[in-house]
Amino acid sequence: MLKTRNTLKGIQLANDTTDLLMELKELGRTGVRVPEIGIGVWRYSGGVEPLRAGIAMGASLIDTAEVYGTEDVVGQAVSGMRERLFIATKVSGQHLRYDEVMHAAEASLQRLRTNYIDLYQIHWPGNFVPIQETMRAMETLVDRGMVRYLGVSNFSVEELHQARLAMTHHPIVSNQVLYNLNRREIEAQLIPYCEANGITIIAYTPLDDGRLARHSQYPRNPQGQQALEFVAAQTSKTMAQVALNWCIWRPSVITIPKSNSAGRVAENCGASGWRLTKEQYELLNRAFQSL
Ligand SMILES: NC(=O)c1ccc[n+]([C@@H]2O[C@H](COP(=O)([O-])OP(=O)(O)OC[C@H]3O[C@@H](n4cnc5c(N)ncnc54)[C@H](OP(=O)(O)O)[C@@H]3O)[C@@H](O)[C@H]2O)c1
Repeated sequence: MLKTRNTLKGIQLANDTTDLLMELKELGRTGVRVPEIGIGVWRYSGGVEPLRAGIAMGASLIDTAEVYGTEDVVGQAVSGMRERLFIATKVSGQHLRYDEVMHAAEASLQRLRTNYIDLYQIHWPGNFVPIQETMRAMETLVDRGMVRYLGVSNFSVEELHQARLAMTHHPIVSNQVLYNLNRREIEAQLIPYCEANGITIIAYTPLDDGRLARHSQYPRNPQGQQALEFVAAQTSKTMAQVALNWCIWRPSVITIPKSNSAGRVAENCGASGWRLTKEQYELLNRAFQSL
């Protein structure tokens, strides 16, 4: 695994003594390496500073979407360092006609203030538009240099399989899906399928919307919370860092936690650069299976 050391100029680190090495993973079979901890910006209202703090710590992958209303702030945050970043955005599942995809991509490029999107994803599968029509548009965007790589989101194994069959000359490199200690449905079929076919899983809601990041007086899963706290104490990491490190334990998985706070973005970046032992990983698996 390659590592990247923070060298961005003009960016103040949340903690100047931090010597974080963000680990990188290959995106699909592209040969391109992206940080295993990126930043998600759904319901984000933190302005540019938390994003810049994360970038300074190596979280150079930012995930947004046309429906989030946050492409503008991402465009502002990355101004002056675009080529060092990996920007992922999404076309809404309600815009999957050929012309709609082309129009949505152009609008996203404008809001992001860039002339290319690194990863363009279908946000959720559409019921009415043939996947061949959507993928023809997606591939055209790559052919025109507006997009580098293509991904999907919320696709089941069957939907992903059909989408792959619809591709004529570019691969699907990622599937962005719900994955955290409390929500492990993708382990049964989707992860094995993606691993067999060189598709990166981008885990969303990795902190279960914050529930895995803080002690609760009335936890839904007391055994799980106890295990998380136990491993956090053992590793001298926070609960959030342990929950995120569990998420990215498999080589095929990266993740994109969201926080409005520069301090918590920095904390989340600290989930990279180390690994849970197999025993700690399995302890968490057992504790959270009992939910
Ligand atoms: N493709 C899709 O359909 C889809 C769906 C959902 C999400 N996503 C993507 O995944 C990203 C992340 O998912 P998410 O926002 O649903 O959930 P999440 O990252 O699991 O949790 C975000 C919540 O956790 C809190 N938090 C973050 N770091 C923390 C820390 N270190 N300690 C304590 N609390 C912390 C945040 O609060 P503060 O902001 O106050 O810190 C926020 O309330 C989204 O932003 C989006 O990019 C994609």
